[in-house]
Amino acid sequence: MYQKREIADKVFYVGVNDRQKHLFENYLPLPHGVSYNSYLIVDEKVALLDTVDLSFSDHFISQIESLLNGRPVDFLVVHHMEPDHAGSIRLLKTRYPQMKLVGNKKTFDFLKGYFNIDADLIEVAEGDSLSLGKKKLVFYMAPMVHWPEVMVSYEPESQTLFSADAFGTFGALNGSCFDDELNLDFFWDEMRRYYACIVGKFGMPVQNALKKLSALPIKTICSLHGPVWRAQLEKVVALYDRWSRYETEPGVVIPFGSMYGNTQTLAEAVAEGVVAGGLQNVVIHNVSKTDASFILADIFKYNGLIVGSPTYMGEAYPLVDALLTKIKERGVKHHVYSCFGSYSWATGAVKRMTEFAEAMKWEVVGAPVDNKFAPTEDALQKCFQLGKEVAQACLKMKE
Ligand SMILES: Cc1cc2nc3c(=O)[nH]c(=O)nc-3n(C[C@H](O)[C@H](O)[C@H](O)COP(=O)(O)O)c2cc1C
Ligand SMILES: [Fe+2]
Ligand SMILES: [Fe+2]
Repeated sequence: MYQKREIADKVFYVGVNDRQKHLFENYLPLPHGVSYNSYLIVDEKVALLDTVDLSFSDHFISQIESLLNGRPVDFLVVHHMEPDHAGSIRLLKTRYPQMKLVGNKKTFDFLKGYFNIDADLIEVAEGDSLSLGKKKLVFYMAPMVHWPEVMVSYEPESQTLFSADAFGTFGALNGSCFDDELNLDFFWDEMRRYYACIVGKFGMPVQNALKKLSALPIKTICSLHGPVWRAQLEKVVALYDRWSRYETEPGVVIPFGSMYGNTQTLAEAVAEGVVAGGLQNVVIHNVSKTDASFILADIFKYNGLIVGSPTYMGEAYPLVDALLTKIKERGVKHHVYSCFGSYSWATGAVKRMTEFAEAMKWEVVGAPVDNKFAPTEDALQKCFQLGKEVAQACLKMKE
């Protein structure tokens, strides 16, 4: 290997960058790519911590081989069974037939179900440890930080936490795996988008995991995606804590659907009202143009949400409807909410958007505007007023 990426004594980065895939999980855009991280501990025993997406297994295995000089891998620790990390398990087992797989009871159900592997297993539970020589790994269960079998591990000598998907982010690694050697500018937004889309539903499990891990002295966090965190440790832990409590800052997201521009005209008036109400943080998203993952990321950032939709076959516009479902699935909390719509003969969108608020147990602020035909002066004035009221409520919420 031309460069060994040494995280601590005997601990190496052996992950890969995916700059090919357009859509993570086949639906989330990857404008900056993504990394699948894996780590190798070369002690008296050799432990590999997770694998990578199968498409990158060649490069992955060659990195491992170049660090091991012919030694075999003794243990493969499986923190998470999603195929972006588990994809090369079967191949690894063929390459290193003596290798033992380390996981918990649930991991082994998945292993059997996906790969028909049920031998050479070492089962671990909360607090168990695996000795590697000088180093050891201690295991902590982190169920639902993203799947039910997820666990994390901690290496006490180097004070390194191997955190599975937690603290992960979209974005491939541009020239280094270390946060202090990378330009992190785009990672912060990508981290929030990753959180909102992948982990966003599981605020409580993330809080439980954070509480459990807060007692450990941690110098380095090795996540399964994105940079190895060592300089920005406090910041990433604080961000996860904040997002998993669904904490937001004053600002308004205005996602709208529009076929012919009428709803968009209303959206512009709403936004002007928000600014007049004292908030500069206003983001307008056309749901047909901006992928929902970016809209969700903004909803996890700001405390105001005003949704606009034309009525479409008696319902909300399909892409608006899909966005509302995604928000609901994530159990998003504490938003100052309102809505507006446009129709021609029998309205339906505003009703759907109001029912959404009821289902979320959010109060609807102001009077939702439901305009027939082209936007009237009166409707635009009401939209402006609505934006203003929402902005003021957003500012008040933070006082
Ligand atoms: C395919 C389609 C279905 C529609 N369905 C309804 C409907 O069920 N009820 C209604 O009142 N208007 C319906 N409309 C009319 C639109 O809601 C109305 O023209 C609205 O102003 C469009 O807003 P937009 O310019 O933002 O797309 C429909 C329009 C289209 C193109
Ligand atoms: Fe995952
Ligand atoms: Fe992952």
